[in-house]
Amino acid sequence: MTEPKRAPGGFPVVGVVGGGQLARMMQGPAIELGIQLSVLAEDEVAAAALVVPSSPVGRHTELDHVLEFARSCDVVAFDHEHVPQSVLESLENEGIVMHPSRTALRFAQDKLAMRRRLTDLGIACPRWAVARVAADVDRFGAEVGWPVIVKTPRGGYDGKGVMLASSSADVADWLTHVGEPGPMSEGLLLEERVDFTRELAALVARSPSGQAAAWPVVETVQTGGICTEVLAPAPGIDPDLAAVATEAALRVAGELGVTGVLAVEMFEVPGPDGRPGYVVNELAMRPHNSGHWSMDGAVTGQFEQHLRAVLDLPLGDPRPHAPWTAMANVLGGDYPELYPAYRHIMARDPQAKVHMYGKGVRPGRKLGHVNVSGPDLAEVRDRARHAADFLQGVITE
Ligand SMILES: Nc1ncnc2c1ncn2[C@@H]1O[C@H](COP(=O)(O)OP(=O)(O)O)[C@@H](O)[C@H]1O
Ligand SMILES: [Mg+2]
Repeated sequence: MTEPKRAPGGFPVVGVVGGGQLARMMQGPAIELGIQLSVLAEDEVAAAALVVPSSPVGRHTELDHVLEFARSCDVVAFDHEHVPQSVLESLENEGIVMHPSRTALRFAQDKLAMRRRLTDLGIACPRWAVARVAADVDRFGAEVGWPVIVKTPRGGYDGKGVMLASSSADVADWLTHVGEPGPMSEGLLLEERVDFTRELAALVARSPSGQAAAWPVVETVQTGGICTEVLAPAPGIDPDLAAVATEAALRVAGELGVTGVLAVEMFEVPGPDGRPGYVVNELAMRPHNSGHWSMDGAVTGQFEQHLRAVLDLPLGDPRPHAPWTAMANVLGGDYPELYPAYRHIMARDPQAKVHMYGKGVRPGRKLGHVNVSGPDLAEVRDRARHAADFLQGVITE
């Protein structure tokens, strides 16, 4: 592996394990701040490897690869949560500075550990249980009502690893993996199916010194387990709910010792008194799809904030600079060409901000997103959706 080039002037090298779009989107603010990024990439054409000159290829599961990479960086951050605890532990023992820490990251890696910890902290969660055998699933379904949600504790993303089960037979296949080494070794996570009003996310950043900053709570729209749209701030949100949701996210960040960006995915539910409340769905300890709007819609975007936080620099102002920002994801469809759409969408809407990740088209794959800000919610939402749909090839005019 070659050493990342160092810029004169004492600037640090931030290493990112994983070369996906999140690592790639750190490069814009890294360039602006004069910070050198180095990425441990899956291959030469990973989204971040295409734009970061120092992108050695290596596996995040191989201690040798990660260790050699980490030694050439001043601080290590992550593009995803899939680096095994054993690898993180070795890095820790070597004195590698990483954010978030191994102990914090565990609660974003393992949904069972997350549920246990949040329940101990008294943070509202859906009713949940662990299943090791079919009878556990049947008992839980009888208790909370069918269908139930079943999740693989580790390794899932974009709805992969989440299933709606109408009986234990639906998860018979997964149950055979319980006890084997792998994402289901300790059992499956069972959750009641929450009849939510909508999905929200509270995004905060916390630095190692303990400074924290919160963006406004947003609404996220999921289709088939994949985030497709984000509205910032969450339209019409009860101000008390926005305050308690933000407070909960800041508390989780502090109690778990999270450093960097933390996304707390939530379900909005009617509370016992009829006022809107929330239960926490899951945690992500890195920049998150629910924060992509902030790249164009807030004074400090999440990727810049993540760099500031992992370097223990003072955090930037998270406030929005427009009444509304809508973010629409571009998902892969059948048509492999993306760039030809630029002529149309840019001519049609000069204010739309287009972000593409340099990824090949595969159905349902996140390829990019579009942000539109302005004073009229319905209008910015339509405009962002139109541009994203056009890029996806869903519409042709
Ligand atoms: N307990 C639940 N009740 C209802 N819907 C759920 C529940 N858990 C997950 N979902 C739906 O599935 C989506 C993906 O689940 P999540 O646990 O966030 O998995 P991932 O790690 O793939 O993001 C959620 O955004 C939500 O739409
Ligand atoms: Mg999720």
